[in-house]
Amino acid sequence: MSDPKTIVLSSDHAAIDLRQAVARHIEAKGHAVRDIGPNSPESTHYPKHGEAAARALAEGEADLGIILCGTGQGIMMAANKVKGIRCGVCSDTFSAAMIRAHNNANMLSMGARVIGEGLALEIVDAFLGTEFEGGRHGTRVEMIEALEG
Ligand code: RB5
Repeated sequence: MSDPKTIVLSSDHAAIDLRQAVARHIEAKGHAVRDIGPNSPESTHYPKHGEAAARALAEGEADLGIILCGTGQGIMMAANKVKGIRCGVCSDTFSAAMIRAHNNANMLSMGARVIGEGLALEIVDAFLGTEFEGGRHGTRVEMIEALEG
């Protein structure tokens, strides 16, 4: 298993069940979970939940983040507006490993209306189990950071 980390989790209403499954899964793997909700099935607005998780991560409250909405797209777009956040949407395990290895992504986003729970948990394992390779990829990540101003 990968080194124990603290993972911040959030979602909108469309992904509460999958987020809770992710929380149970990563806790069982020995990671600490900071689940910032929401837990009500009422319709809510994904940007505020993406922002909340991204700010918690950017402020050092966690090592990595996992966020979810119906497609994974909207909450990813919101999270990526927070300085220091590099979040990718993944629906396959190869991409989940590569956004860590090459892009040093610190957040993973998934779509609860796109993938099932079994694949989602494998994607989480690929994300958490892969480290950034650095080297030439570090130069490129620095170029991304330079765009933040
Ligand atoms: C909510 O209906 C839906 O729009 C949201 O979960 C997400 O898919 C947006 O990107």
